[in-house]
Amino acid sequence: MSYLTDSAARQQISEVLKSFLADTAVLYMKTHGFHWNVEGVHFHTLHLLFEDQYTDLWKSLDTIAERIRALGFKAPYSLKELQDLSEMKEASEIPGERGMLEELRDCNMLLSHKASECAGLAEKFEDRVTADMMIQRAEKLEMNAWMLNSSIGES
Ligand SMILES: [Fe+2]
Repeated sequence: MSYLTDSAARQQISEVLKSFLADTAVLYMKTHGFHWNVEGVHFHTLHLLFEDQYTDLWKSLDTIAERIRALGFKAPYSLKELQDLSEMKEASEIPGERGMLEELRDCNMLLSHKASECAGLAEKFEDRVTADMMIQRAEKLEMNAWMLNSSIGES
């Protein structure tokens, strides 16, 4: 059944997108926080790497939220609601350089996997617009994880 004629399908896709939006918001804040608080001999490199990644995450929030709206649902935006919807763990303390890289790598891989799953769901309902958007997110998040992992060797 196509999502165009099936409101239950649109709702199902939207629920997954809401959760993905919330995860992205939490990862955005964590990456920005690490950008602020990173210390060590690789400060400058990591400060800039984290900036590249949080900027992309920030921009993607808008794209995801507007897709939820286009499917006919409200986009969550309060910090409380986003936190409740997210499965992404908040950082409870400020890790060292290596800890930051490992944590962000794992978060990006987890989110990439979720994006790929969401693309599969959207594809099932012939929603190729959402599927394409989520494949692009999966690709970017996997690339982020690779860059973070590659930086661990020298930290
Ligand atoms: Fe900054």
